[in-house]
Amino acid sequence: MARSRWVARMISATLSPALISSAIAVAVFTIPQSASAAPVTYQSEDATVSQGVVESNHTGYTGSGFVNFDNLTGSYVEYAVNAASAGSHSLTFRFANGTTANRPVNVTVNGTPVVSGLSFPGTGAWTTWQTVTTNVTLAAGTNRIRTTATTSNGGPNADSLTVDVAGEEPPPGPGDTPVAINGQLHVCGTKLCNERNQPIQLRGMSTHGIQWFSQCVKSQSLDALANDWNADIFRISMYIQEGGYETNPRKFTDMVHGYIEEATKRGMYALVDWHQLSPGDPNHNTARAKTFFTEIAQRHKNKKNIIYDIANEPNGVSWANVKRYAEELIPVIRAQDPDGVVFVGTHGWSTFGISDGKSETEVFNNPINASNFMYTFHFYAASHKDNYYNALSRIADRVPVFVTEFGTQTASGDGGNDFTMSQRYIDLMAQKKIGWTNWNFSDDSRSGAVFKPGTCAGTSFTGTGVLKPAGVWVRDRIRTPDNFQSASP
Ligand code: GCU
Repeated sequence: MARSRWVARMISATLSPALISSAIAVAVFTIPQSASAAPVTYQSEDATVSQGVVESNHTGYTGSGFVNFDNLTGSYVEYAVNAASAGSHSLTFRFANGTTANRPVNVTVNGTPVVSGLSFPGTGAWTTWQTVTTNVTLAAGTNRIRTTATTSNGGPNADSLTVDVAGEEPPPGPGDTPVAINGQLHVCGTKLCNERNQPIQLRGMSTHGIQWFSQCVKSQSLDALANDWNADIFRISMYIQEGGYETNPRKFTDMVHGYIEEATKRGMYALVDWHQLSPGDPNHNTARAKTFFTEIAQRHKNKKNIIYDIANEPNGVSWANVKRYAEELIPVIRAQDPDGVVFVGTHGWSTFGISDGKSETEVFNNPINASNFMYTFHFYAASHKDNYYNALSRIADRVPVFVTEFGTQTASGDGGNDFTMSQRYIDLMAQKKIGWTNWNFSDDSRSGAVFKPGTCAGTSFTGTGVLKPAGVWVRDRIRTPDNFQSASP
């Protein structure tokens, strides 16, 4: 997966179809190979089971079934794992837990406790399988890896264990995905930095409201976004009102879980957008936000690509009240995911109050009391000209800021495009490394929806033929090489 876009780019840029297979062969053989064996998967149904049964009544397992631990403390599954050499290995457990309670297990290697209370949180359904990974030291030869339930609920349903040599990933190259190159992000001064502490700019797209346009979020459109558009980041826009989350929290939370997994598979950052809008006071939805973000953060905390966008566009509300909301929400997320970056919208529809006729200094003078977060700013280039442009430029020099929404048209997301003004913003954001996600990745009739109406009913999303003018324009601006991709193939 990690190198697919390099291969794809190289093929489309330089080679005729007849040469594609030899190009793939060359690409594969030039990748540095580790001396170690490939990851090996051990099926739970082949392992030693104490107080548990092999079953196959929930779909989605691999092999011929899974182990259902008896619901009691002490039930276990023990895998006989062969390690080619001694040293650190990653253990990846595939599991399902259809309850909402964590089912922790203790892990022993050859009888020695190595991990206590490894978490197996609820996956949403017994047919929804996820993985959890931990690193342990193995001896050369056979190792007995035992997972023992520590609560009276027993363990999760256990599908398999995959063992790999840890820490032997080749260093990132120009063909790797944005997440493979940058890893876990953090805020460094006024910038977003990668795990090597380099400031980076992320560029990508926001969905339209997923209650209306989920048909535009499917494997073919996401493949296009990752591999044709070369997007770094995918914003998942989940409205709260207007037919969104509040109407069916379980359904919308599960949709977001699924979209996060899809972004992750493709190596993109997943920006989870709590799209509060009407009412504009985020405090109206605090209880809902706590429930939602607790589950999202708990489920995905071990991923490196999750960013939490906790207030889309506060409006008709004071800065002090937005700050109060943020200071209540951020600790709730951090309790689950201590290193997750959080984005916070600002008053005046995420303009630092500019659209309320105020000045950004209100935020500077009364900053959110938290760390590892960024403020957000929105603009629509045909409506918001020098006043907003100059404000964004000043803001970026003072505090961390990310543009989680912008359009080349008017503030309604419709009307004529102002590509000249839009380009000025693009240049400013590139120069100051301000990350952005454009509104929006749908086939809505308005000019700011990138696809022509009807596109999402089909399966073709690559190229420019399916795009409106704003889509052609913004795709070109996402496709240009990332500043974190040091060399091009
Ligand atoms: C249900 C489910 C099982 C699961 C069990 C449990 O019975 O069908 O697959 O193992 O719950 O709570 O452990």
